[in-house]
Amino acid sequence: MYTDYRTRPIVQIENMVKEFPTGDGVFRALDGVSLQVDQGEMVAIMGPSGSGKSTLMTLIGLLDTPTSGHYVLDGEDVGGLSRLEQARVRNRKLGFVFQNFNLLPRLTALQNVELPLVYGRVDGRRRRELARTALEAVGLGSKLDNLPNTLSGGQKQRVAIARALVHNPAIILADEPTGALDTRTGAEIMALFRELNREQGRTIIIVTHDPEIGRHMDRVIGLRDGRLAENILSEYYGVEVFERVEREHGLEPVPVPVRRRDAGEE
Ligand SMILES: Nc1ncnc2c1ncn2[C@@H]1O[C@H](COP(=O)(O)OP(=O)(O)OP(=O)(O)O)[C@@H](O)[C@H]1O
Ligand SMILES: [Mg+2]
Repeated sequence: MYTDYRTRPIVQIENMVKEFPTGDGVFRALDGVSLQVDQGEMVAIMGPSGSGKSTLMTLIGLLDTPTSGHYVLDGEDVGGLSRLEQARVRNRKLGFVFQNFNLLPRLTALQNVELPLVYGRVDGRRRRELARTALEAVGLGSKLDNLPNTLSGGQKQRVAIARALVHNPAIILADEPTGALDTRTGAEIMALFRELNREQGRTIIIVTHDPEIGRHMDRVIGLRDGRLAENILSEYYGVEVFERVEREHGLEPVPVPVRRRDAGEE
């Protein structure tokens, strides 16, 4: 059964600008982006390479500060916090998943998943218990003591997802989580994200280049040249869905006959 956890905005961003210094001035990677993500939503950020997707994710993830703009995370105005206070909010409320897993090679799966709790001052025994539960939730209960180099790519990404979940964050942020996986393993990882979203009500924001993934999200946030772009799936990736219908009824996206062209070909 589908449970609708979407009750309130959890990410509210207004007029976000991010500029990077360059040799002869600044480059504006984000040019006034405003968006909202509701609790329990599973959304994709999509758009051409260089459009600002990762930049936006690092700002949502409090890994960098914007040049200007407002950011309210889970009801708290986090833009005004010090870097240290932001780090605390980050450790408490956000879980990250990266394309290349970012596991520590000398730690076992269990120890990797325990890490976020080490910073959160949870005692050792409770830590292992929570880490084991998280690994079981991603289907890796039998690989607790494996080192990363003894795991497949899909299994490594499952460990990374368990690590992102273990401290019970409000939001999971994933930047191209299937980018280093084959199509089938990628689809399994996406099914896992969907399960976490449906069954635990997790809010999930995923950067992806894969229109097949985009098609199965609640909503797609399009970016082009640092600005929001409407209809990015149809206009850039050549895929169409009835986004409004699926959003209002919380249904699987309804694909209409797919007109595909190579992404990037305009
Ligand atoms: N630290 C930086 N210094 C200067 N320019 C940067 C910096 N980080 C990003 N940029 C520029 O900002 C723009 C957006 O970069 P970003 O990494 O957000 O793109 P992206 O949409 O994630 O692309 P991709 O799909 O290739 O990952 C790019 O033109 C990039 O060169
Ligand atoms: Mg990127």
